[in-house]
Amino acid sequence: MRISDKTNPTEYRAVEDRYDEMTYRRCGNSGILLPAISLGLWHNFGFLDNLEVARNILRTAFDAGVTHFDLANNYGPPYGSAEENFGLLLKRDFARYRDELIISSKAGYDMWAGPYGNLGSRKYLVASCDQSLKRMGLDYVDIFYHHRPDPDTPLEETMGALDHLVRQGKALYVGISNYPADLAQQAFDILKSLGTPCLIHQPKYSMFERWVEDDLLGTLDDNGVGCIAFSPLAQGMLTNKYIDGIPEDSRAAKGMTYLEKSQVEAQLPKIKQLHQIAVERGQKLSQMALSWLLKDDRVTSVLIGASSPNQLLDNLESLEKLEFDEDEIRKIDEVLTS
Ligand SMILES: NC(=O)c1ccc[n+]([C@@H]2O[C@H](COP(=O)([O-])OP(=O)(O)OC[C@H]3O[C@@H](n4cnc5c(N)ncnc54)[C@H](OP(=O)(O)O)[C@@H]3O)[C@@H](O)[C@H]2O)c1
Repeated sequence: MRISDKTNPTEYRAVEDRYDEMTYRRCGNSGILLPAISLGLWHNFGFLDNLEVARNILRTAFDAGVTHFDLANNYGPPYGSAEENFGLLLKRDFARYRDELIISSKAGYDMWAGPYGNLGSRKYLVASCDQSLKRMGLDYVDIFYHHRPDPDTPLEETMGALDHLVRQGKALYVGISNYPADLAQQAFDILKSLGTPCLIHQPKYSMFERWVEDDLLGTLDDNGVGCIAFSPLAQGMLTNKYIDGIPEDSRAAKGMTYLEKSQVEAQLPKIKQLHQIAVERGQKLSQMALSWLLKDDRVTSVLIGASSPNQLLDNLESLEKLEFDEDEIRKIDEVLTS
């Protein structure tokens, strides 16, 4: 695999062998296969980021068979800018590959001022999807998600809005994110009754965040719904990045992100022990963290972030070793539960 920085600014041609090495997994009971590793654009793709780096990350990903790019209305900063940049790069580099891509967006968190730019009303979801399509220059997204549960809007209204977007041709499939198992089940039942089955659930899942193991993964399996795990590297904590301190160019060092230095410091003893286990397995910690999630075939894909093409390539190597022996599983569990 290689970094795709062929710097001809106008002409990008994906490499011919891009599908040779990637593993694709079926998303629940659907017709869709997703790459085992997908790329999220939450960070590193906004107006404050370097567009050429972003472009090389996308090219590198696509050249390695990563066919799924995940966005949301408010990714940036500022809000909307990741979609706008992605739209620009899609037009420049990927227009001819649109039918080889699964592009997702979401609405559910704060997006615009006033009572209609947040949470789960039909008004918000439909308007937000229209805005996302405009920013990305797309006729449709492949997956449109409700980003988080809204306790004050009837679930029928929110799921009805997702179904409506599919019927309008603005989304091919729908998903939900951050829903607990019981509410997810209700959402699946409503969507099924409307004739738009839920394709996928996007929960936070990593070695450091294992809530999905209690009920959610079982519920998804029972309903034939796929699972794409977000922040599988715990925003970079499950990599070698922080072992010797907090680098200046890291997410934890930048003030405006959701990763606090104190969080990293609290996890450091576990990070170091996990790193040791990874080395004994012949992997980097980031690779082991991804392999560990993918050993469960109920996990369709892991949705990583990357601030450079090299990080992405590093992480793709996790696919070369997905098996764990009992001793490794036990040692990892001991560290995680200590
Ligand atoms: N549905 C939701 O509510 C929700 C919430 C959050 C995220 N998401 C989705 O999930 C995607 C991924 O989330 P995430 O960015 O938090 O995922 P992550 O994969 O846990 O963290 C990505 C960060 O880890 C570091 N990293 C990655 N590979 C590395 C490597 N090999 N070596 C060293 N450091 C490495 C980089 O940090 P540095 O930038 O510090 O280099 C990178 O930006 C998002 O883009 C978004 O699509 C969804």
